[in-house]
Amino acid sequence: MREYNSDRIDMRSDTVTQPTKAMLEAMMAAKVGDDVLQDDPTVKALEARIAEICGMDSALFVPSGTMSNAVAIRAHTSPGDEIVMERTSHIYQYEGGGYAVMSGVSVALVDGKKGQLTPELLSKAIRKAEGSLGHYPDGTLVCVENTANRGGGTCYSQENLDAVAKKAHEHGCKVHMDGARIFNASIKTNTPVSRMLKEFDSVSICLSKGLGAPVGSLLVGSTDFIAKASRWRKMFGGGMRQSGILAAAGMYALENNIQRLSDDHSRAKRLASALNEMSEYTVDLNSVETNMVYIDSKMGAKELMAQLSNHGIDVLDVGPTAVRAVTHLHVTDEDIDQAIEVFRAISA
Ligand SMILES: Cc1ncc(COP(=O)(O)O)c(C=O)c1O
Repeated sequence: MREYNSDRIDMRSDTVTQPTKAMLEAMMAAKVGDDVLQDDPTVKALEARIAEICGMDSALFVPSGTMSNAVAIRAHTSPGDEIVMERTSHIYQYEGGGYAVMSGVSVALVDGKKGQLTPELLSKAIRKAEGSLGHYPDGTLVCVENTANRGGGTCYSQENLDAVAKKAHEHGCKVHMDGARIFNASIKTNTPVSRMLKEFDSVSICLSKGLGAPVGSLLVGSTDFIAKASRWRKMFGGGMRQSGILAAAGMYALENNIQRLSDDHSRAKRLASALNEMSEYTVDLNSVETNMVYIDSKMGAKELMAQLSNHGIDVLDVGPTAVRAVTHLHVTDEDIDQAIEVFRAISA
């Protein structure tokens, strides 16, 4: 479904989607108000809907996934605390070190497998001030990313999610999920989002990735947590006014764009399997669980990107020899056929 005028196949990320005609119509029809004054009915409806999907009390609409995580960290911690996460996680790698500036916290990193924590690794990483003669910072928050982006778009098993969250709580930590792509995980593992989050204190969910909305993320948690988060959103400059226009896109996405994520997953798998057959490329097929394909190439990432670009295909370099291709609602079966042919042609 490529509903906009482009002859390129853009697989740099699932963030590149354009709002479709039906989504734009929903946005134009939205009833709006001043959301800072709590007057926007469409934002309220979206927040209520996502809270219901998550099985949690309350939600907050924010401009981006980065802000959602930043607000969550700020609301869960105090300056001088420590947060714990996997080394390749988005919060650590790609959010500008915002946790240090905006929350005044340090970070303890865990080297997980495919971007995922385990209860055992977590236990070794959490430090508590108590009993350390004041030497350690206080580990108070664990952040879990699902799907794990740099892990290949991999999904936690439900057993591991529960175990990690329980272990965090045993150590007196809150547990936050960066669920930017939680619906990809839910579709892949056939698990309701509310079940995935049963042991979690909060979750951040992006509307502007696989779900195809132009802007926006939702932070979800308990009533008290969201009241605190709302104050921090205001201080971080994320209070928006007639944001119902954007919330309407999010609502449309929740209603129409979740089930179709399985198409993205099968297209990613097909691309991955075809490329792994070619001697020029290597893909860890076991890691291709959702909509991401991490491709290692003998010619090097920059050269591969340049050659693909000359043939109308865009991917992202993620290392000296690695690029990432991501499927989303504008990447069709025909696009995958064409991409496979181009990858083959330039490797010859
Ligand atoms: C796992 C993960 N978390 C958070 C974000 C941040 O989202 P945003 O780009 O809306 O700030 C991203 C963005 O790609 C992501 O992949």
